[in-house]
Amino acid sequence: MHQGKKGFFITLEGIDGTGKTTQAKLLAKNLKKRGFPVLLTREPGGTLLAERIRAILLELGEEKPVPLAELLLYGAARAQHVMKIIAPALAAGTVVICERFSDSTLAYQGYGLGLDLEMITEINRIAAGGLAPDLTLLLHLETEEICRRIRQRDPESSGDRIEARGRAFLEKVQEGYLQLAEAAPERIKVIRCQGKQIQEIQEFLLAACFAKLGEGGGNG
Ligand code: TMP
Repeated sequence: MHQGKKGFFITLEGIDGTGKTTQAKLLAKNLKKRGFPVLLTREPGGTLLAERIRAILLELGEEKPVPLAELLLYGAARAQHVMKIIAPALAAGTVVICERFSDSTLAYQGYGLGLDLEMITEINRIAAGGLAPDLTLLLHLETEEICRRIRQRDPESSGDRIEARGRAFLEKVQEGYLQLAEAAPERIKVIRCQGKQIQEIQEFLLAACFAKLGEGGGNG
């Protein structure tokens, strides 16, 4: 357990297009309304330096990082974010809601890109200084629906390109997430979002949070 931790650490996970940002904002608002001190943040990012690393990772620059460099950049951003923002907030008793964390690295760089899962686990552990979420909410949507949303968001991209380049990768990542959830059912709660409205999904998130908060999960 992380030294000096008093708050409660919630992460939101899921493949791109599952509505994490919307749900994270609503969750922060709802927990604040109930009187919890809340910090909402994201990965990669959350500090000036980590946001710069995010820009490097997400821009389509002329030199693509090799998978190992990519992994280490996510790790560098995480180390900065944990040390500067997340750990101090938790030590002050805050509920930290973070969009994406170590599970993203396992799902994307591990299951998606094929890097060794044990190596990633070790790098995650080092980067996060041993900090792990108390609760992880995994938003799950069928990849078919995700591709439809991506096409809607970016009508310029043809369905074929998504199918050819993005879809197989997303499916591997999705499968990875489900395996991670199966291996850690106490921590990772799968929220099935297919066919559900934003508010309905939020109710599931809140119920999962209160179930854990009720266990006193933030004090250990
Ligand atoms: P976002 O747009 O959902 O915030 O995510 C940015 C991208 O970063 C998303 O495609 C997933 C990716 N990512 C990884 O590949 N590994 C990681 O460790 C993290 C935190 C994000």
